[in-house]
Amino acid sequence: MNRLPMRALRRAPDIDLDGTWEFRLLPYDEEWKNVEVPDLWTMREKSDPPRYLNVAMPFDEVPPAVPAHNPTGVYRRSVDLAPAPGRRTILHVGAAEGHLTVTVNGRVAGTSTDSHLAAEFDITGVVTTGPNTIELAVAKWSPATYLEDQDHWWQSGLSRSVFLYTVPEVHLADVAVVADYAAGRGHLRVTVAAAGLDHLHDVGWSARIHVLGRTEACPISPRVVEPAFTPPLSDRSQRPKPLGTPDDYLDLLSLRAAGAPIAEHLRPLADGMLPVQERAGTALFTLDALEVAPWTAETPHLEDLLIELISPEDETVDAARLRIGFRRVRIEGRDLLVNGERVLIQGVNRHDVDPRTGRVISRELMLAELSLLKRFNVNAIRTSHYPNDPAFLDLCDEIGFYVIDEADIEGHAFTTTLAHDPRYLPEFVERVSRMVLRDRNHPSVIIWSLGNETGYGPNHDAAAAWVRGTDPTRPIHYEGAIARDWHAGHAASDLVCPMYPSFQALTAFSADPRADRPVILCEYAYSQGNSTGGLAEYWQLFERLPGLQGGFIWEFKDHALDPDGDGRYRYGGDFGDEPNDGTTLLNGVVFPNLTPKPALYEARGLFSPIRLTSGGEEARAGTLRLRNRQTFANLSAYDLELRVETEAGPAGAITLAAPQATPGAEAAIEVPDSIRALLGTALALTVTVRTRRDTVWAPAGTELSAHQIAFPRPLPRLPQGGRTTPAELRHPLLRRAPKLSLWRALTDNDQSIALDNRFVRSGFFQLTPSDTRTDGATTTIRYRAAFGDEVVHTRTVTVLGEDDYLLAEQVTLPEGDGLRVGMEFELADGFDQARWVGLGPWENYPDRRASALLGAWESPIDELAVPYLRPQENGGRGEVTELTLSGPAGTVRTVHATPLHMNVSRYSIGELEAAGHWWELQPSGKTVVHLDVAHRGVGTGLLGPDTRPRYRLAQREYGWQWRLKLSSAGAVKTDFVK
Ligand code: GAL
Repeated sequence: MNRLPMRALRRAPDIDLDGTWEFRLLPYDEEWKNVEVPDLWTMREKSDPPRYLNVAMPFDEVPPAVPAHNPTGVYRRSVDLAPAPGRRTILHVGAAEGHLTVTVNGRVAGTSTDSHLAAEFDITGVVTTGPNTIELAVAKWSPATYLEDQDHWWQSGLSRSVFLYTVPEVHLADVAVVADYAAGRGHLRVTVAAAGLDHLHDVGWSARIHVLGRTEACPISPRVVEPAFTPPLSDRSQRPKPLGTPDDYLDLLSLRAAGAPIAEHLRPLADGMLPVQERAGTALFTLDALEVAPWTAETPHLEDLLIELISPEDETVDAARLRIGFRRVRIEGRDLLVNGERVLIQGVNRHDVDPRTGRVISRELMLAELSLLKRFNVNAIRTSHYPNDPAFLDLCDEIGFYVIDEADIEGHAFTTTLAHDPRYLPEFVERVSRMVLRDRNHPSVIIWSLGNETGYGPNHDAAAAWVRGTDPTRPIHYEGAIARDWHAGHAASDLVCPMYPSFQALTAFSADPRADRPVILCEYAYSQGNSTGGLAEYWQLFERLPGLQGGFIWEFKDHALDPDGDGRYRYGGDFGDEPNDGTTLLNGVVFPNLTPKPALYEARGLFSPIRLTSGGEEARAGTLRLRNRQTFANLSAYDLELRVETEAGPAGAITLAAPQATPGAEAAIEVPDSIRALLGTALALTVTVRTRRDTVWAPAGTELSAHQIAFPRPLPRLPQGGRTTPAELRHPLLRRAPKLSLWRALTDNDQSIALDNRFVRSGFFQLTPSDTRTDGATTTIRYRAAFGDEVVHTRTVTVLGEDDYLLAEQVTLPEGDGLRVGMEFELADGFDQARWVGLGPWENYPDRRASALLGAWESPIDELAVPYLRPQENGGRGEVTELTLSGPAGTVRTVHATPLHMNVSRYSIGELEAAGHWWELQPSGKTVVHLDVAHRGVGTGLLGPDTRPRYRLAQREYGWQWRLKLSSAGAVKTDFVK
């Protein structure tokens, strides 16, 4: 009620109302207290804490019923005003989560419901000179709540800024910009709408714009009245003068509209009968063939546009400034084109979330998030699942991201009703249209989304039709329209935008002759816990197959909350919120404090501006070739650091300017002699891409990705022969001797319904020796797994020197799919440092290591862990041929003839599995080591494809050898020779 129409034009506050307000939460509070706005009371009031539910509503009612218990936060403050005559006072509420009622000086000034768009109210009629009381009452639930059932925390309050501004009686109502770019030129259409003039027949006002060094003026068009017919004359006293109307005069109307033939001499008359109808109260500017640099996410070039509203007295009465970017978005066939080029969408889904404030997001945080994403080569964002703060889109324009702007509609609990329910039709159209009206001037917004997971029905089609009529320059996205049939839903989606599709479905669809739209995955690479396996496989498809253009990783950031700032991240259920969906919101590629998870490093390499295209032989011969993966920019923004990885560590680093390569083109670099000289025994040649210049999102020299050319790997040769020994290893540095391990602390994906408990069914979490036989140096242990299956482990130990052993392992498993096959041992206290030769430096798993680097890496043991908020398998590193653990207690080294997957952890599997939160794990000085001959990929099976078959453990027999040398501190250390 009384909410002003949405507009793209933004006003600066005249009076900032952020800060201290009085607050009372009904029905709980008797007294008023002071709070700081913006404010979500759920983040501080124990009586109504945050609540996490994915699909189900937090109450039992059905639309449009509102629960009787409806906590309502009342914010109240006084503000001194001196309203100037001839000016209107507007109250801006940036975002109210819930149903907002605005009361000024005791009179209701208006209401609004959507939680992620501003509501503005003209309060001129109710404010007075002197103190005024403004009260914002936010009721948690309303009929609109059913459209805000997104998978995140239910929060309530005022999450964005509140302020007042004034405008003159006649003012700029809005500015709509279409800054098109085609054939190397910009084409600008600016529609300036004036408020207070649109009903006048005689206007006399005009608008002026200044852009690209030009100034243009244009009158505001008046309201044109349809021609009325002259009534027949009743006066017959004299002969009427002929009007000169031709025969069949009125037929000209339909002849012209039908495009039917009209006699030449009648054409001017016909044209005059149907003049072009300008929208009253607007001035339309059209500037063609402008010489201007285009905007793209890679080259986010913006121009200033200044708009003035000029009175009949030639005074500038109102003005606005915009930053605009010239670009054209089109779908042609199965390709989404930006400025005529097919772009690959390297996107993430992003929610508004801050662990301390819930959903109150500062500009600093937005900038930090976008800078981080840019530094990891992400080029697109879906504002899942509601419009973000307009400041967020400003930053996307400036830093360069392609944005799918999503309307605040998710009726997940009522997918078969709301989209068909005429009572909700106005809300659908309102929510979509308000978003479009607010955000249409942003070049970063390339696609409109009608919302998320609300089924599909005519309410969507109505909203889509409104968008098509208002902004035909951008395609429409709605997953619900295609969810059940990728060949359907054209009225509401110009994209095929599925969630979590299988590799096979994408491959088949790409080859399907019926496919007629671009495929951009609105959600994929589900990243809950230790996950995101298979990202490289997706990208092989996107880069190879027609019609596939990338997608948006689910999702950017874990939603865990930490309202008290004590570092104890909470998820569903931790606030006493029952029932809840637990950890289903811990699926970010960054932690709540923005620390990137290893999955984001994997994405960074795949999304890099370059890809190496040559191999080891060419490098040794002195040439390195690479491809510019970008669509618009050359490589002049980058430097390349070349470095050689050896078993002794990195060597010979040298920095070169990236070569000239137009977008998509290949270029060659001559490998400097100093590097070539080192390649003979190298593991790999590493090429690190760094920024050459300072930008808002990163200082010069920031690493954007690292790539490798790996050389055929010289695997360690283990000495054979020597003295054999009874196989039980004892040593003061070994708290637990190496023994067979087939289990890992289950990841979220390991517990997917699609895996049907297969790992628990194997019983491998518990191995009980049933029979042990020693024959000289060989020991065979028969184990019974938890449900009786037999596992056989045979080990032969050879003594190579003092505390220096060669272990030959043989394992026979029952049929099935396992998690790991390897040895587990625990060291005595007193180890703090790890050094390994293998993949690193960050955590990697067999199906998530396309960006991991081969080399000799070092790390404090404490820093090897990845503290997934719900503890699970973490910290693994693959392809390890050598591991050295050292500390005050001594040194333990292992060498592996077969590269092994290592894990060095402060916690046992049991401890990880028992803890519900990482912070429940007690600080530990333990060193638990796993060296696996096979380790299952992590996949995305909780919501998406499982790890590919080649990363599963199908073998029944495993055999390998490794060497273990233990040197206590103080003991004479003789380094063994491999
Ligand atoms: C998707 C949904 C997301 C999120 C995800 C599960 O279906 O669109 O919002 O709920 O599943 O984490």
